[in-house]
Amino acid sequence: MTQDELKTLVGQAALHYVEAGSIVGVGTGSTVDKFIDALAASGIKVAGAVSSSVRSTERMKGLGIPVLDAAEVQGLGVYIDGADEIDHGGHMIKGGGAALTREKIVADLAERFICIADESKLVQALGKFPLPVEVIPMAAAQIARRFAAMGGVATLRAGVVTDNGCHILDVTGLQITEPRAFEANVNQWPGVVTVGVFARNRANVCLLGTSEGVKTLTF
Ligand code: A5P
Repeated sequence: MTQDELKTLVGQAALHYVEAGSIVGVGTGSTVDKFIDALAASGIKVAGAVSSSVRSTERMKGLGIPVLDAAEVQGLGVYIDGADEIDHGGHMIKGGGAALTREKIVADLAERFICIADESKLVQALGKFPLPVEVIPMAAAQIARRFAAMGGVATLRAGVVTDNGCHILDVTGLQITEPRAFEANVNQWPGVVTVGVFARNRANVCLLGTSEGVKTLTF
């Protein structure tokens, strides 16, 4: 199966977690696009969706799925999103699509994070995928120096301005063996908007697309 077919498979499998009449949290990315398409085609009528990006909002609206403002919602049952990497504890690197801040906000509203990913995303330790960090532009160089002191190399993502008007640093050379402590540490650096390690808001379930079908990992 191709990677695209695996994404389609897990996008469809995620429907199992969507209750008719509920409000669902929706992430961003090519795998989530498959989920949005599957939801629209399924006939499951949700009360609405809280979206993590302009990209997902436009796709859902185009397919007739009502999109609600996060401020109108007190809580969500599930948040469905992809990942750039996921480890065996459900910790993830996210933000390859630059939507990490809103993704973390919507994930935090939800009782359960359902991660949908193809098997290439499962890793022993986070860090091979360049870690996205959304930053206030004036702090970018200062934050890059802090990563250098940890052995990382931070590169400004050229030409990218996030939905929040900020910049993205992509950091290579890190091995994130203690995701929760790492996230808490980087979060407190001045100028960091969001670090792309999702440890406090880790996945509860991962639907992993493999050549043998969908494997369900629970954490
Ligand atoms: C978006 O900012 C990301 O967090 C995505 O969820 C992540 O990059 C996975 O994207 P794909 O499903 O396109 O691989």
